[in-house]
Amino acid sequence: MDVLGKGGRLLGTTGVQRRVRLLRQAWQPSVVDDRTHVLDAVAVLERGGLVAFPTETVYGLGADASDAEAVTRIFAVKGRPADHPLIVHVAGTEDLGRYTEVVPASALRLTETLWPGPLTVVVRRADHVPPVVAGGRPTLALRSPAHPVAEALLEAFGRGIAAPSANRFGRVSPTTAADVRADLGDDVDLVLDGGPCRVGVESTIVDCTGDLVVVLRPGGVPVEVLEGVLGAPVGRQAGPGAPAAPGTLPSHYAPRATVVVVLTVDEALDRAAAGGGRAGVLLPGAAEVPEGVTLLVADEDPDGYARVLYARLRQADQLGLDLLVAVPPAAHGIGVAVADRLQRAANATP
Ligand code: TXA
Ligand code: MG
Repeated sequence: MDVLGKGGRLLGTTGVQRRVRLLRQAWQPSVVDDRTHVLDAVAVLERGGLVAFPTETVYGLGADASDAEAVTRIFAVKGRPADHPLIVHVAGTEDLGRYTEVVPASALRLTETLWPGPLTVVVRRADHVPPVVAGGRPTLALRSPAHPVAEALLEAFGRGIAAPSANRFGRVSPTTAADVRADLGDDVDLVLDGGPCRVGVESTIVDCTGDLVVVLRPGGVPVEVLEGVLGAPVGRQAGPGAPAAPGTLPSHYAPRATVVVVLTVDEALDRAAAGGGRAGVLLPGAAEVPEGVTLLVADEDPDGYARVLYARLRQADQLGLDLLVAVPPAAHGIGVAVADRLQRAANATP
């Protein structure tokens, strides 16, 4: 990766280079079928409509970021509180300077290496960006997604696209075009189909406005990769719901079933068997389950687990489960983001 050379000092380490190269390969989709509708999508965005589009993480619900009225529609369709800021999707690092007066060195370094990819940087918002996009905040979240359909859309549109995940507020994020339609119906004007998302959980969000880069939401880029690229430790947000991360509510990403998180398979089987009602387990690998308990299998490998996480949560609802007892994957790499999402799904339980 020649971009690694640009950042200086510690970027050249072979380990980080190799890790980033492997991540980049993993972000690429195997099915891409909807590049032909990109121009239709541009027309929808230009008249102030909403377009759902694939990214490597989850599907986004997009509107022209410079059109306050269109952005307001996103909030209405999602049922999202107005103070809950959106991410503006851009074509690449060269766009940072269009959305912030002074590009922080940390944001430049991270995006040169990891964009397009599942990383969102928070910077100070330039005055021309409508405040509604940022939930009235003086900062703005920016991300360049690694998906051929999203990249083609951004290039053809030529401006930033504000987009949250394309689900109703608080529900499970969509990882296929069909998920989007099932959740949003005709409230979205056009859905671009780019196949199933490769990463499966949302982007890692980092605040680059201070001296220390702080992770506001764990996601597709593991923290150890950020630290490798920066050559410096990053901070972690104090706790769910702290003021810096308005979007990371303690309860979110929730299926209808009650979610309980436990650490071992045995505990999961016991809890599910004792649960009453229709109970299921979500495990990082196959296991023999007691009679009456539904088995949902995710991958043992954290990347594989992340890829199917939201599909399994949706499945729990389709199967009419009342209780889902989940064992998270190993807590390294993207496993940290998976555990975070499962915990928030569990916190949504009344
Ligand atoms: O992978 C992703 O990030 C997906 C795809 C579609 O790009 N998008 C996504 O958007 O997850 P959303 O709206 O579901 O989550 C955006 C998060 C929220 O938690 C929000 O609070 C946070 O980003 N955020 C946005 N602007 C922010 C800002 N200025 N400061 C702090 N957090 C911000
Ligand atoms: Mg979301």
